[in-house]
Amino acid sequence: MASRKPSAELLELLNQAIAREIQVSVQYMWQHVLWKGVKGYAVKDAFKTIAIAEMKHAEAIAERLSYLGGIPTTKPTPIFVGATLKEMIESDMKAEEEAISMYKKILLVARKEGDATTEYLFNKILSDEEEHHDLFTSLLEKD
Ligand SMILES: [Fe+2]
Ligand SMILES: [Fe+2]
Repeated sequence: MASRKPSAELLELLNQAIAREIQVSVQYMWQHVLWKGVKGYAVKDAFKTIAIAEMKHAEAIAERLSYLGGIPTTKPTPIFVGATLKEMIESDMKAEEEAISMYKKILLVARKEGDATTEYLFNKILSDEEEHHDLFTSLLEKD
């Protein structure tokens, strides 16, 4: 249990994180469905695998937010699927960069509030997002 009541800021950040996780889980899954061309064939499974990982992140953050007394949002931040593979992967890299910077901020706030469990959760999620970012970056380099 957190050593004291979580701040409104932390609860709001967790909800923003959930909105982003829902966004990318739909975004990557629809990219998995809508890929085209030979290069798309090579990455279609990666889109699906990462989409599922993002939905698991949404679940884990929602569990934490609910435990802390918040109500998890059902609304994603704007979803951008993209028309070409290059557009898809570029928007995904950007989404991962934004997640990485937001989750570093959440880590700082959780640490400041003595919330070790949220800190632990976001350390794990942050390391996944860095892997995703690395993967999308190398996919784009091959393009
Ligand atoms: Fe995620
Ligand atoms: Fe990710």
